Amino acid sequence: QYIHKADSVLALMTLEEKIGQLNLPAAGDFTTGQASSSNIAEKIKAGKVGGLFNIKTAAKIKDVQRVAVEESRLGIPLLFGMDVIHGYETIFPIPLGLSCSWDMSLVKQSAQIAAKEASADGINWTFSPMTDIARDPRWGRVSEGSGEDPYLGAQITKAMVHGYQGNDLSHNNTIMACVKHFALYGAPEAGRDYNTVDMSRQRMYNEYFLPYKAAVEAGVGTVMTSFNEVEGIPASANKWLMTDVLREQWGFDGFVVTDYTAINEMIAHGIGDLKTVSALALKAGVEMDMVGEGFLTTLKTSLEEGTISEKQIDNACRLVLIAKFKLGLFDDPYKYCDLDRAENEIFTSENRAIARNIAAQSFVLLKNEGNILPLKKEGTIALVGPMADNAENMTGTWSVAGRFKESISLMQGIKNAVGNNVNIVHARGANIVADSLLESRVSVFGKPTYRDSRSEEELIQEALAASKNADVIVAAMGESAEMSGESSSRSTIELPANQRRFLKELVKTGKPVVMVLFTGRPLAIQWENGHIPAILNVWFGGSEAGDAIADVLFGKVNPSGKLTATFPQNTGQIPIYYNHKNTGRPLPEGQWFQKFRSNYLDVSNEPLYPFGYGLSYTSFEYGDITLNRNELSGNQTLTASIALTNSGQYEGAEVVQLYVRDMVGSITRPVKELKGFQKVNLKAGETTEVTFELTKEDLKFYNHNLDFVFEPGEFEILIGTNSQELSKSKINWKE
Ligand code: IFM
Repeated sequence: QYIHKADSVLALMTLEEKIGQLNLPAAGDFTTGQASSSNIAEKIKAGKVGGLFNIKTAAKIKDVQRVAVEESRLGIPLLFGMDVIHGYETIFPIPLGLSCSWDMSLVKQSAQIAAKEASADGINWTFSPMTDIARDPRWGRVSEGSGEDPYLGAQITKAMVHGYQGNDLSHNNTIMACVKHFALYGAPEAGRDYNTVDMSRQRMYNEYFLPYKAAVEAGVGTVMTSFNEVEGIPASANKWLMTDVLREQWGFDGFVVTDYTAINEMIAHGIGDLKTVSALALKAGVEMDMVGEGFLTTLKTSLEEGTISEKQIDNACRLVLIAKFKLGLFDDPYKYCDLDRAENEIFTSENRAIARNIAAQSFVLLKNEGNILPLKKEGTIALVGPMADNAENMTGTWSVAGRFKESISLMQGIKNAVGNNVNIVHARGANIVADSLLESRVSVFGKPTYRDSRSEEELIQEALAASKNADVIVAAMGESAEMSGESSSRSTIELPANQRRFLKELVKTGKPVVMVLFTGRPLAIQWENGHIPAILNVWFGGSEAGDAIADVLFGKVNPSGKLTATFPQNTGQIPIYYNHKNTGRPLPEGQWFQKFRSNYLDVSNEPLYPFGYGLSYTSFEYGDITLNRNELSGNQTLTASIALTNSGQYEGAEVVQLYVRDMVGSITRPVKELKGFQKVNLKAGETTEVTFELTKEDLKFYNHNLDFVFEPGEFEILIGTNSQELSKSKINWKE
């Protein structure tokens, strides 16, 4: 139905207007949104713009849409896009944190609210979800994805696409999603952003492609290309990727947009001048050019020279028009520009309450020796550290529309929680980093880190004096918001040296220390793990972070988050991930070193905290695995059950994880792969049976010829609390 409608518009269009639909500039001024009076307005009038991004508020967008609809020849409405990554104005945890909730209904809910708020403010398209699998925490954008696992990443991707798009894109409170960055953006060499990626197709199909494919299956409207190359061809010119895989193998029927100036960047990649790379991009399967205007300025010439065809331009334009029809923009171009909605539906107390709950579910309790946590609401708490009183940094990276100045700081959250019952003393104790040059690089996008110009020694002494009469020290440490995210790669991922030095002094006081760790990536906190009794990892929790952290610190909420990315012991172990291959020389069980085995001289192969790890204030006991049968054939279903008991003192939730190991394959297989999980809430003393079902389909993989096959044989079924502490059972599955 949409093809027909789009074709009737296409029939009226000039070549220039068709090319214009493929152009996606950024609004002149994001904060004032003066696009309608800028050069862009002239382009819109001339039919040279298909969509606009980075413009905010229903009023401004209405104004710009009016120019498109009333002052361009054909009145084709514009798309309005934005990076609504983890919330619009109400900010949820960074995606890596959100993934640690392992709760698909919450993930979906966060996307739904983001869509409601954004659409109430004129936006109809988000550049989310980012589903790039990442196993190198040096890469700053590990913060923006769902961690290292393909299966979990795929589930989260689906939940987000459904959350943004709903069942019907034409509703005015849903928006079009854009899965990114296709493909493999999360695997740059050495974790350096935008760097070369080189990967076997086997790994692409079995691991890195899964979440993108899941987005297509969930009906995602658009796909964004990645900056990196794939098999020596930059993604934005890679026909195999965008046509053979995405369209032909997966059946994607939306449109592909480049990342920001990705077409132009192919000149630096070294595959041609702007005219050449623009033609290559179109022919490879790109429909929309973000910001660089290579399409706008060169496609006509390429057509005249015969390197591209008008049919290729028509095909691209048709897909952009179809997206506009799907959104209902041809029926009502102003459907997202209801000023009353903007007034009443954004940053509401309801949305903020939900954000608080979701944030608390994303936190991961890494250590709690002697059950220091939860804290009692009594005595004196020394609240120290550079993140203690730092509202602007609570929302984390890529929170462009977020009201980060209005976020709840940890200090505020603790005060709200304890009222007058507790005496709170505060001192900074350390800057985020001692080096002022580095500080200037991490304190950007209006998120100052509040550098204190006194020496680190003076800061430490002040904090030690303040902590003197404290019963407990809460140290808010870690990264600032922009220390992870785009273009924020780090070559070592430890806590900055000045922060560690401060922690050492705190430990020397002999008082109980609780570290509240803010981070956008797994960190190598080996020393901290060895010396600090309690560590609560809170990522960047969003607008309500401070209240949510206080909820967990004082036991109103029992932490239940589990890591979705492995924490290494040190930077040198990277990449380290749970679903690795066995190699021909694995270590014997129980040993961490043996000569001529696959290991290091100076550190074991073990992570500091494995994938799936996270503690609770209560304890859970797992029974043995019960299988409905040990021998299966054909299309039978395997049922694997386990009894789970809350054996501690608090009500709490546990993420029960199911892994499978394929013992023998025609290609080498990972030592385990996540194939299922369930988050179960149990009252203290309660027991339940947790059951998983598996069919042959769940055991398939792409073989050497990239055929998706089931290979009969022996499989291990592993169930447990994280990727290392697992009960084991074996099955034999025949053809
Ligand atoms: O959506 C982003 C992308 O993830 C990184 N480059 C810029 C785009 C638009 O802001």
